[in-house]
Amino acid sequence: IWSFANIEKEPITVLVTGAAGQIGYALVPMIAKGAMLGPDQPVIIHMLDIEPAAEALNGVKMELIDAAFPLLKGIVATTDVVEACKDVDIAVMVGGFPRKEGMERKDVMAKNVSIYKVQASALEEHASPDCKVLVIANPANTNALILKEFAPSIPHKNITCLTRLDHNRALGQISEKLYVHVSDVKNVIIWGNHSSSQYPDVNHATVSTCNGQKSVRELVGDDKWLNTEFITTVQQRGAAIIKARKLSSALSAASSACDHIRDWVLGTPKGTWVSMGVYSDGSYGISPGLIYSFPVTCEKGEWSIVQGLKIDEFSREKMDSTAKELIEEKSLAYSCLN
Ligand code: NAD
Ligand code: LMR
Repeated sequence: IWSFANIEKEPITVLVTGAAGQIGYALVPMIAKGAMLGPDQPVIIHMLDIEPAAEALNGVKMELIDAAFPLLKGIVATTDVVEACKDVDIAVMVGGFPRKEGMERKDVMAKNVSIYKVQASALEEHASPDCKVLVIANPANTNALILKEFAPSIPHKNITCLTRLDHNRALGQISEKLYVHVSDVKNVIIWGNHSSSQYPDVNHATVSTCNGQKSVRELVGDDKWLNTEFITTVQQRGAAIIKARKLSSALSAASSACDHIRDWVLGTPKGTWVSMGVYSDGSYGISPGLIYSFPVTCEKGEWSIVQGLKIDEFSREKMDSTAKELIEEKSLAYSCLN
């Protein structure tokens, strides 16, 4: 029987760079299952990697075929950046070198920023004009900034980086501390850089209880823990995963990338904000010209920074110090490019 419900949506084309790597391997099946764009949204997946990974990339393609995903309407697996970027609506930039134990994320700067300069031009020339970009490869904020600077015709609001993993890590820590479900915790904020200088802020976070929304600070009742151990645990979580797995986070990074794009495209739930690395417009006194993580709400495919939150002196100092690190990273990135 014919019905409107049978009319399929047009597929959305999603590019994943570094698709033969760890995050890529976790991410592409999530996209093909609808975790990124919804359970009724067909997708075409473009996968890019470099020549030495071409065979492994072809293996990922074979597995995508074998999994027979109903939403997956096409697969391109290529080492050609132009073919990869052609007509993509969403670009998830994972390609690059991950850090190893003992390194800071900016230690992979020299290798990664030059990749982002080249790929910026390919996206600018070949992607859909309104392509939304999420940069995951580290140093994520600075790679996104370089991509923005070398793709001037892509609207700057379309270029973002992943701090949703840090946001989700903060929710997870609060949920473990309070023995509440993670989905009942909301409105934490990650300010600044996806690095150990980031500031996970719980001053506006709440938990849904049977008696309504309660403040996380009141429920935890331990400012010392919130101002020290909680912050360092979230800041250092990436390093802790590397120490434990001998590889950097992959399934949580992939899942958070789906959360980031889903909320950006389909909207954030009412009364809830999320953290995204976005181009600063000067909100909260953060210099324009940086990709900085802010609390945002999303509607109709557009993010907006949540305005008017009260910032105490403790937070101010931490927000400024992560901004300072981003300014330093920016000049280091330019020196690597020259
Ligand atoms: P990985 O080494 O397993 O995979 C990276 C892939 O990128 C490899 O297959 C590699 O061949 C490919 N690659 C290298 N140069 C490329 C290029 N020029 N074009 C296309 N592909 C290229 O690494 P991974 O564990 O998947 O991590 C990927 C990146 O994501 C790393 O930089 C890592 O530090 C970062 N990361 C960020 C977050 C975050 O929250 N922002 C979280 C986890 C990991
Ligand atoms: C993470 O936060 O897990 C990633 O950025 C990987 C890393 O280097 O920490």
